[in-house]
Amino acid sequence: MRAAGAADAPSLAALHALAFPAEKWGPDAIALMLELPGTVALQRPGEGFVLLRAAAGEAEILTLAVAPAARRRGCGGALLAAALAAAAALGALAMFLEVAAGNAAARALYAAAGFTQVGLRRRYYADRSDALVLRRDLAPIEDGPDRPRA
Ligand SMILES: CC(C)(COP(=O)(O)OP(=O)(O)OC[C@H]1O[C@@H](n2cnc3c(N)ncnc32)[C@H](O)[C@@H]1OP(=O)(O)O)[C@@H](O)C(=O)NCCC(=O)NCCS
Repeated sequence: MRAAGAADAPSLAALHALAFPAEKWGPDAIALMLELPGTVALQRPGEGFVLLRAAAGEAEILTLAVAPAARRRGCGGALLAAALAAAAALGALAMFLEVAAGNAAARALYAAAGFTQVGLRRRYYADRSDALVLRRDLAPIEDGPDRPRA
């Protein structure tokens, strides 16, 4: 697992196209997103990546993509866990995301990670399917003198 930067935008766009064939997030769009303050991308090169943004005490997963050939081997779960840790480290106390109502794989992944539904956006996607808004609390990162050290 490692952080991705603008130089990784072409490989992230290729992974995104594999995971979301109906969407078009080109390298330029991903590079622009990476320039936004509080935006972080974490990747397992060649397998998958997660893009998140943290601001004002809340965070959002912008996308999570695992290449079809790399699925069901824990990559999505590892990327999600890393995104949660990165958001907490940036001071976020809650993580939000949107998932298509019919995306059983992602819904199972998020439910297993403790996300619950807090909203519904009807006909949110281009194919007019609904989006569920999911949320999960994040443990605050304490950095005082009493913080236990590993
Ligand atoms: C959703 C996605 C990221 C999961 O990635 P992954 O690497 O296969 O996930 P993992 O191997 O870490 O799976 C973790 C858990 O998620 C659930 N899960 C993952 N894929 C599943 C599927 N096809 N059906 C049911 N449950 C599934 C399971 O609970 C799984 O645990 P298990 O393998 O021990 O049963 C991947 O399928 C993907 O990229 N899909 C297309 C893009 C997408 O939908 N992204 C999320 C948009 S919000």
